[in-house]
Amino acid sequence: MPSQREPELTDAEARHGALMHEHLAREIAAAGGWVSFERYMEMALYAPGLGYYSAGAHKLGAGGDFTTAPEISGLFGACVARQCAEVLRHLRGASILEIGAGSGRLAADILARLEALGQLPDHYWILDVSADLRERQRRHLEERLPHLIGRVGWLNQPPQTPFDGLIIANEVLDALPVARFRWQGGRAQELGVVIGQDRFMGRPGPARPAVAEACRRAAAAAGAWEDGYESECCPRLEAWTQSVTHALRAGAALWFDYGLPRSQYYLPERREGTLLCHFRQRAHADPFLYPGLQDITAWVDYTSLAEASRRAGFTLAGFTTQSYFLAGLGIDQEMRVMAGEDAARFARLAHEARRLMLPGEMGESFKAMAWLRGLDAPLSGFSLQDLRHTL
Ligand SMILES: C[S@@+](CC[C@H](N)C(=O)[O-])C[C@H]1O[C@@H](n2cnc3c(N)ncnc32)[C@H](O)[C@@H]1O
Repeated sequence: MPSQREPELTDAEARHGALMHEHLAREIAAAGGWVSFERYMEMALYAPGLGYYSAGAHKLGAGGDFTTAPEISGLFGACVARQCAEVLRHLRGASILEIGAGSGRLAADILARLEALGQLPDHYWILDVSADLRERQRRHLEERLPHLIGRVGWLNQPPQTPFDGLIIANEVLDALPVARFRWQGGRAQELGVVIGQDRFMGRPGPARPAVAEACRRAAAAAGAWEDGYESECCPRLEAWTQSVTHALRAGAALWFDYGLPRSQYYLPERREGTLLCHFRQRAHADPFLYPGLQDITAWVDYTSLAEASRRAGFTLAGFTTQSYFLAGLGIDQEMRVMAGEDAARFARLAHEARRLMLPGEMGESFKAMAWLRGLDAPLSGFSLQDLRHTL
């Protein structure tokens, strides 16, 4: 029986949850009874036909599990479009690749604003693991921008052919499977997952070399941890970002997500890490509650992301908070453009802008990072505040 705090599952959810549970139990048993948390999270999010992102959960927006900046307001996409325009201006035959496009709203907001600015890219590619979200993106774009749909295409894998332009990802890095660790007796144990009575449970095991090395760097950056300190790291961050950006010849990659520089991420007082799960607009910290039905996320270690940029041959061109990114791109002007003479609409937009920008909302915990390759363009989104020295 669900406790009072746990919502009732629909029959379809309960069936899906049971199938996912069977799948995970089979995989854990086949692996000898223990899998790393990273492997568990990978299966819970991406197992074909069952994982949270591979199956048909509703996920985004009203009635979904969580909301994102583009779902809160078109102002986010309008500002990102302004940033894209500054890059596209320097390139010919350029494309945009959006990774993890959610409902398609950000893509539509960016394309609409770029059209108004006279800076449309030749193509707008979308790379998304979720078949149902790809369908939702297509419907959204066909409805809103039927005359531009010919420019939009969906990829099944990262682009292999070199292209110029931009790569954009909002709230995608936080879904990359992370390894969890516990600090005990001056060394890292890796937290894994075993089959419990009627649900999965965490169980420490020896740390893989990549995890032990990430812990060593984290401890060096953030100071002494007490026994029992737990957190996470993302061993696949570098390989994944490299795979999705390697075909970019000249242009920028823009990453948006909640996260911190390493020295703050791993502060001793953040002793339970940053893992967060989302189910029907409720956030909680139990990754074993509804595997396959809930999103599982972790904050981004932006120092690791900056290191990945350099090793992939990019210049780290900017790092700032979402609030300063939007201010640098003139969100106030965008509000006036969008509202025109409509005072009620202006008031609505002002409310949305506050949600995007206030420190207690998304303004400070969400960051923007820019990588540049083969191009040296000024990026207004990073002109008001430069946090690169914190990385
Ligand atoms: C939290 S949603 C964000 C959606 C959208 N960017 C927004 O801001 O509203 C994550 C999106 O990334 C996609 N996604 C998750 N992991 C991915 C991966 N490894 N590669 C490509 N897309 C992924 C999901 O299907 C979903 O569309």
